[in-house]
Amino acid sequence: MSIKPIQYHDGICRMIDQRLLPTEEVWLEYTDYQGVAEAIQTMVVRGAPAIGVAAAFGAAFGARDIAADDFAGFAAQLEKVCSVLAATRPTAVNLFWALERMQRIAKEHCQQPLAEIKERLLQEALNIAAEDEQINRTMGANGAPLIADGSRILTHCNAGALATGGYGTALGVIRAAVESGKKVMVYADETRPFLQGSRLTAWELHRDGIPVTLICDNMAGALMNQGKIDCVIVGADRIAANGDVANKIGTYTVAVLAKEHNLPFYVAAPISTIDPALADGSMIPIEERDEAEVTHCAKTRLAPEGIGVRNPAFDVTPARLVSAIITERGVARGDYRTSLAELLAKQD
Ligand code: MRU
Repeated sequence: MSIKPIQYHDGICRMIDQRLLPTEEVWLEYTDYQGVAEAIQTMVVRGAPAIGVAAAFGAAFGARDIAADDFAGFAAQLEKVCSVLAATRPTAVNLFWALERMQRIAKEHCQQPLAEIKERLLQEALNIAAEDEQINRTMGANGAPLIADGSRILTHCNAGALATGGYGTALGVIRAAVESGKKVMVYADETRPFLQGSRLTAWELHRDGIPVTLICDNMAGALMNQGKIDCVIVGADRIAANGDVANKIGTYTVAVLAKEHNLPFYVAAPISTIDPALADGSMIPIEERDEAEVTHCAKTRLAPEGIGVRNPAFDVTPARLVSAIITERGVARGDYRTSLAELLAKQD
């Protein structure tokens, strides 16, 4: 069983503190929206689908604590709760998708008593969490045929169970391939500066018995050149209408390397990661994080004080470098403007 990083029971949302993995497995408990917002911002929980799930629980907690006389007052306060949650991280569209879904549910039931609306919002957060895992399993089944038996697969960052409601997107495809009887070996890029690859991907694959070899980010090209990698599979934080993909910083570099070595470069992401409102990747907001993530490793300074530092957390891989986008509704290829629009129009 892969890990479920967000668990709800009896008014409490428990999240494994992903900042402490792999050395400590600590579960933190959240009961209000401010706490959940802080958990997202400080990376207790991270990964596009997972922050959508967490935000939905945050909105449900915020709604539960609203004291209002009528729906208009309730909706105005829910809007404030959602704007606090929405301000935590800008790139992953799943966060905004989940908050919009929560507000839509409230509006759809505006004629009902507020207590009933609050119950429905909690139920919707539980639905979002459960659906996410199911979506990943379907995505896995759709993507597994792309992975040949014996493949050596490179992945970047963590698009695993830890980044979702369970099972994972890119790692979900790998899990599904393994469950169908294929033998694989995963190369995990360490993923500077936050080290999601070494701390999280290596941890969850090793825990689940899937062979994993850790490499530094700057080793991928040499391994490809030596014929040691067969394909690349990564997740996504936001995909524009034309198929440009925002994902963890360094993904673009890997995609360029894959092109040079004629290796397939696959992206696995749920439909909720596609943002059809953005024509191309240049419009995707890229989060810039604290420079201490670059200048320090844990508490140890690695760079001189007073120097200039950049820390964009994501980059955009142009659609032309993407071999296929695997979703729960099928696999998009070729002209992504058309193939993604077809998947978006399709009913589950
Ligand atoms: O900064 P993070 O750790 O939230 O970034 C996560 C990623 O970039 C993942 O690859 C992406 O969210 C896909 S997760 C299924």
